[in-house]
Amino acid sequence: MKRVARFLLALLASGVVLAWIATAVVERATRGRFEEDIAARAASVARGARPGLLGHWSRADSALAHLLDDIVRDERMMAAALCTERLELLARTADWPAQVGCAALGQKMAATWARVTEGGTTRVWGSVWPLPGGDVYVSAVPLVQREQHIGFLVLVHDLSFVERRAAQMRTVLLLAFGLLALGASVVTIVAARLSWRGFRKELLRFIQGESRRKEFLPIIRDVRELVERIAAEREADGQAAVWSPQRLKQTLVRHFPGEKVIVLANREPYLHDRGHDGVVRVLHPASGLVTAVEPVLRACSGVWVAHGSGSADREAVDRNDRVRVPPGAPSYWLRRVWLSPDEERGYYYGFANEGLWPLCHLAHTRPLFRSADYAAYAAVNRRFAEAVVREAESDDPVVLVQDYHFALAPRLIRERLPRATIISFWHIPWPYAERLGICPWRAELLEGLLGSSIVGLQTQLYCNNFLDSVDRYLEARIDREQNGVVQHGQLTLVRPYPISIAWPDDRANEAPAVEECRRAALAELGLGDGAILGVGVDRLDYTKGIEERLLAVERLLERFPAYNGRLTFVQLAAPTRSLIEHYRQLDQAVEKTAARINQRFGNSSYQPIRLLRAHHEPPSVYRYYRAADFCFVSSLHDGMNLVAKEFVAARDDERGVLILSQFTGAARELTEALVVNPYDLDESAAALASAIAMPPGEQRERMHAMRVFLSEFNVYRWAGRMLVDAARLRKKASRLGRAGAELARLAGFPR
Ligand code: G6P
Repeated sequence: MKRVARFLLALLASGVVLAWIATAVVERATRGRFEEDIAARAASVARGARPGLLGHWSRADSALAHLLDDIVRDERMMAAALCTERLELLARTADWPAQVGCAALGQKMAATWARVTEGGTTRVWGSVWPLPGGDVYVSAVPLVQREQHIGFLVLVHDLSFVERRAAQMRTVLLLAFGLLALGASVVTIVAARLSWRGFRKELLRFIQGESRRKEFLPIIRDVRELVERIAAEREADGQAAVWSPQRLKQTLVRHFPGEKVIVLANREPYLHDRGHDGVVRVLHPASGLVTAVEPVLRACSGVWVAHGSGSADREAVDRNDRVRVPPGAPSYWLRRVWLSPDEERGYYYGFANEGLWPLCHLAHTRPLFRSADYAAYAAVNRRFAEAVVREAESDDPVVLVQDYHFALAPRLIRERLPRATIISFWHIPWPYAERLGICPWRAELLEGLLGSSIVGLQTQLYCNNFLDSVDRYLEARIDREQNGVVQHGQLTLVRPYPISIAWPDDRANEAPAVEECRRAALAELGLGDGAILGVGVDRLDYTKGIEERLLAVERLLERFPAYNGRLTFVQLAAPTRSLIEHYRQLDQAVEKTAARINQRFGNSSYQPIRLLRAHHEPPSVYRYYRAADFCFVSSLHDGMNLVAKEFVAARDDERGVLILSQFTGAARELTEALVVNPYDLDESAAALASAIAMPPGEQRERMHAMRVFLSEFNVYRWAGRMLVDAARLRKKASRLGRAGAELARLAGFPR
């Protein structure tokens, strides 16, 4: 309140000051006008009286006084007199003020008025004349006879009405300004109050959750969901928050006692390959899916059903097409399914990788859908589903169906094993409903996936897209409360489970010391100690933004020539899906771009880009992760991207900088990375420059925070959460089943 009074007072005071200034300005202007007025009037009076005055001038008789009396009949004229040219009084009216003598007038005029005539015309002299009873205005009009200046007609004007007018104007102005100030203060206070109230309301609404429906929606929802999940986990399992292989195993045993875990994934975790030298080696395929899921099955044991794609795979299996893995420390079975070249072409290269892969990734490659490919896809899904059923040792196994290769399999397995717990996980993005409409078999894909108990996706956005797709293309009830779909009386949960990597990461733990890795990598590349080393690790896939990455390095060298000769960017590029034309084109384009940049900036002893196009086994990949100053992940669209997480896991020295595309699922979690838009080359180049210049302290801080995150949100938690949710769902279903049976019994229906 005090503040308001002070504000009002200040406003009023400034109003008064303004009014005062305005009055002075206006008064000055009015006085100027008034003087001009008087001068004009004096001139006109003199003009009228001149003949009479000149007629009697030489006689200096009483007629002159009468003529002057006539002049002062004008109410604003107080007195008049005639002064000779020698400044002697010739005649005057009765009330002529004695102070205004002709001599005094002469002196005043001399100071301000040099000449009485100018260009033949007479000029009127005038000035305010202070008198004891108040100021008057005295004007003197020169009288000229036969071009001879003979004297002046002196007129005394009443100034009091000017004063009166000025006083009136002052009052009016003061009043007007006062009112204006008051009005302005009222309007200001009301506006301020309203906007403060509005601000408070908005703030309150935000705090109370209303603005959650707007901009902050995803962040707040994600955080809330995270907090709820962690709390629920702690409550449900009565255990510490950190998930480990042991805890995952315990969770499995507790919720699904005696049941077998069957992983269904197209890519096998170990591949027997006969090299050119005839020796069979076990390879680890470059696949994020394998990186993530393999440690889960190692922890749970069971069987992994996959396509046997290695050139020596058949030689390694038993008569049931099975082999124990991992080699050297077996803990689960790998069951290989054989595909004919036609099946592989239609199902894997065709429908899965020329159709679904580009359909789900916003990377500007057109999906291709052919009926024959779909037929192969459906047939292969049936064959894999049968293999799963054959691997099941009970009617309720836990089946983990992986990725877009097997959208139809969950329904097919459900038909054969109605009591199975089927958890399907879609590793890549799920497109928005309209885009899914491109696929002629979108309804079949959705129907197939809804055979699962849970459909897991990487982010909430993909869950929303999935539910919208069901809404648009199927007859099913969407349960938005539970995030699920009810179809044919069966509930399928549709939930986000962002995938991760094993933590602790054996590959990092088993790797040589960081200094050793760096020494080895630099030696391998023929680089000196002072080299700046960047690394990229990918399959040669058009979704990974490899060309954009190389162009960003080029932009960096353009902008910071000091790095030329010092910076080497190594791209480990694993050839992939090379029967597909787009992949072959990409391979060539990347090679061409690298060669062009090397030609532009390199010389015989230095190449800024080192493109290592080959399959790289984990020890080699981890050596580069640990040797690098930074790792650049520039995917144009990626469900998660586990390279980013692997790089963080590899850096137990808490050094190195991760530059991460904003279009990866990982960017939502690894927020301490330098997140960039890979299409914006300047932004990427600037991020590369910041990475190179980042002080060790900041690197440590960022890397530490990301490592703490990964230690908690690891792949055991990913699998554990899905198992716990599936167990709850199963319990709920069996409670409902029992209640239904009881109802039937009470109603007297036969069982
Ligand atoms: C992505 C897919 C995986 C796939 C991997 C490698 O990560 O989500 O399902 O295994 O790419 O691709 P490939 O075709 O070689 O298995």
